[in-house]
Amino acid sequence: MTKDCNWVSERAEGMPPFLVMEVLERARALECSGRDIVHLEVGEPDFDTPPVIMEAGCRAMRDGHTHYTHSMGHPELREAVVDWFARRYGLTIRADRVVITMGTSGALALLCAAVLNPGDRALLSDPGYACYPNFVCAFGGEPVRISVSEASGFQYDAAEVAAKIDADPRIRMLMLNSPANPTGIITSPERLRELVAAVDGRALIVSDEIYHGLEYGEPARSILEFEPEAAVVSGFSKLFAMTGWRLGYAVLPEYLVRPVQKLQQNLFISAPDFAQFAAIAALTEAEEDIERMRLAYDARRRLVLKRLAEMGLEVLVEPTGAFYVFFNVSRYTDDVYAFAFQILEEAGVALTPGVDFGPGGEGYLRLSYANSLERIDEGMSRLAEFLNMHENKREA
Ligand SMILES: Cc1ncc(COP(=O)(O)O)c(C=O)c1O
Repeated sequence: MTKDCNWVSERAEGMPPFLVMEVLERARALECSGRDIVHLEVGEPDFDTPPVIMEAGCRAMRDGHTHYTHSMGHPELREAVVDWFARRYGLTIRADRVVITMGTSGALALLCAAVLNPGDRALLSDPGYACYPNFVCAFGGEPVRISVSEASGFQYDAAEVAAKIDADPRIRMLMLNSPANPTGIITSPERLRELVAAVDGRALIVSDEIYHGLEYGEPARSILEFEPEAAVVSGFSKLFAMTGWRLGYAVLPEYLVRPVQKLQQNLFISAPDFAQFAAIAALTEAEEDIERMRLAYDARRRLVLKRLAEMGLEVLVEPTGAFYVFFNVSRYTDDVYAFAFQILEEAGVALTPGVDFGPGGEGYLRLSYANSLERIDEGMSRLAEFLNMHENKREA
């Protein structure tokens, strides 16, 4: 008898691959065959989790924290998040509005599930974080992309956001992300204020603040300073170099707390137990480690910008956050996906094609400087040589 139950949902079929992973997987295959690859593609800190955090996690495990926890998370961690918001932004938020999740990804999934009915729409920037549209689609919503240009710092225009919401009553959500992936650009407080006014309570503003703290100029401001009824999603992966601990949180408007709690109970049960104790140490004891990593990223950022400028690949607005530079290579190619793989194969440098972040990323490459100064320097030399040869070949 033939098996006749290999159904795959249209949502799963229709989901595009995460291109950065495809580049990484090809890079790993090349490494297995003996090639030396400079990794400038992955959006993951190259640092290990700081010892003080690691120790707190191990201690928690030895103390038996290997179980399910309260669906909203351990009260001590929710309080530590409250204190973090008070210290960083001077904000008073209530612990009963904080839910601890399986990474920022878990918080995004819970929020999309809680807010979107089939056919509801979410406004997203193009380019923007590759997974946002897939979260929206996975929970039955429809992404509506707003093109943002390099000249405007890849920022939304508030009037355009207002016009979209005026024209479409099914828009339920506006996604913000500052410092941003893939551009590394921080939204100014003035622009945040304008966007809050443009939305005017007609959609939920979801602010992904996962890169907060990774700032090399003016610090990023929380959306909650401007709109107390917004939702924040954030996590421990980037600032604290804790990608593998899978821990994040959401700060929610009151009406979403109970729906999100019920979804958490059903979909995930709880966030990992011992990891929550590591996260408390991250928020309370890791100040020096954060500063050490931040200074290292900043030195790398400056090196990348200098080397790109030497290649004539200047960025129009300086990226002062996260660990990314998004730069334009459209004078070399009109197919940046193929170009990224060509650079990987021929120069041994792994970069993410801009189209991973939406059609507006055509012509751009994202460089992640979560790698050592020496390797970045090597990668930039190889890239310069590749671009030179590429140009010469085209001229010949
Ligand atoms: C903007 C943004 N949001 C969310 C995530 C996912 O983070 P987490 O590891 O906390 O799930 C990432 C990861 O790259 C990201 O860049």
